[in-house]
Amino acid sequence: MTTPTPQSAPAIRWGILGAGGIAHKMADAIESHTASSVVAVGSRTPGKAQAFVADVGAGRPYGSYEEVVSDPDVDAVYVATTHNDHHEPALLAIEAGKHVLVEKAFTQNTAQAEMVIEAARAKGVYLMEAMWSRFLPHRDALRAVIERGEIGDVIAVQADHGQHLAHVERMFRPELAGGALLDLGVYPISFAHDILGVPEDVVAVGQMRDTGVDNQVSMVFRYPGAQATLHTTMEARTGCTAVISGTEGRIEVADTFYAPTTFTVKRHDGTSWTFDGRIPNGFQYEAAEVARGIAAGRTESEILPLDQTLEIMRIMDEVRDQIGLVYPNERQPAQ
Ligand SMILES: NC(=O)c1ccc[n+]([C@@H]2O[C@H](COP(=O)([O-])OP(=O)(O)OC[C@H]3O[C@@H](n4cnc5c(N)ncnc54)[C@H](OP(=O)(O)O)[C@@H]3O)[C@@H](O)[C@H]2O)c1
Repeated sequence: MTTPTPQSAPAIRWGILGAGGIAHKMADAIESHTASSVVAVGSRTPGKAQAFVADVGAGRPYGSYEEVVSDPDVDAVYVATTHNDHHEPALLAIEAGKHVLVEKAFTQNTAQAEMVIEAARAKGVYLMEAMWSRFLPHRDALRAVIERGEIGDVIAVQADHGQHLAHVERMFRPELAGGALLDLGVYPISFAHDILGVPEDVVAVGQMRDTGVDNQVSMVFRYPGAQATLHTTMEARTGCTAVISGTEGRIEVADTFYAPTTFTVKRHDGTSWTFDGRIPNGFQYEAAEVARGIAAGRTESEILPLDQTLEIMRIMDEVRDQIGLVYPNERQPAQ
């Protein structure tokens, strides 16, 4: 299957909630690499929406999220806030009848994810998790290699995602649902889930820091006849590669495995070939997926359906349970 170009997707008008780092990258992707446009940006930080609009060169600045979702020119809303605060802006947009794309990790926990998904289904609007990697050309090509049976039956998946981000405020603060797992670990988890589905068993070992969030997590997932070994840390930049090994060969995905990159298929018969999926930015592919879905009258992605997002959230809840990662708003009051 060949990934359609983002430019060929229908044009829609985006509103952005939260004017932070990733919102900038997404705005650039939409404006530079799709037929769509950014028409509104909301920030609760005074002056930030104005600065964002000046920087990106597009959109009307608003000082609240309510104003963005009330703007009749906005077709779809992109939620780009911290993990603790994905579900409320998403619910606000859904209530206003907007289609919604929510940054990863989709929510802080499964309960919040269920709430958002139920609301979208009841309202009949489009909803998708912004796990951008799933929509990139190299991931499309990689799935096709496995489907064609080029590496035989998949036996093992290895993936790691480590970044040196422990000093970044939203990463170390538990009230923002910081930590390595939700921010970085979600990538190897989603990768393994894409290839092998829901594991039968999950074993996780975590290393916590004094603020109460996870610095580092190693995970083993067991499937019938296969295993995934996954790792994440926010204290060091790791290799950020992935390997899928099968009975007839393997796929080595280069650094950075979850971003536009290359992979090499190495077969046991000695043959090998490389796919080059490097492209500028990359966020345009998930934006195009939303635009195509809305135009086709769908309410969720066929590549990343909401039930899969829920499965990933449940895996992360299980990992959190095993490593003792509880955010302050989830603590039971003392008896
Ligand atoms: N797909 C990717 O490659 C990628 C990369 C990085 C991050 N992300 C995801 O994108 C989301 C945002 O990450 P980011 O790096 O863009 O974050 P960020 O720049 O630190 O913050 C984004 C927005 O969240 C709100 N916020 C931040 N800190 C806050 C605080 N202390 N109290 C209250 N609100 C706060 C602010 O909203 P206002 O503007 O309204 O004040 C801010 O503009 C996360 O879900 C993250 O996992 C994805």
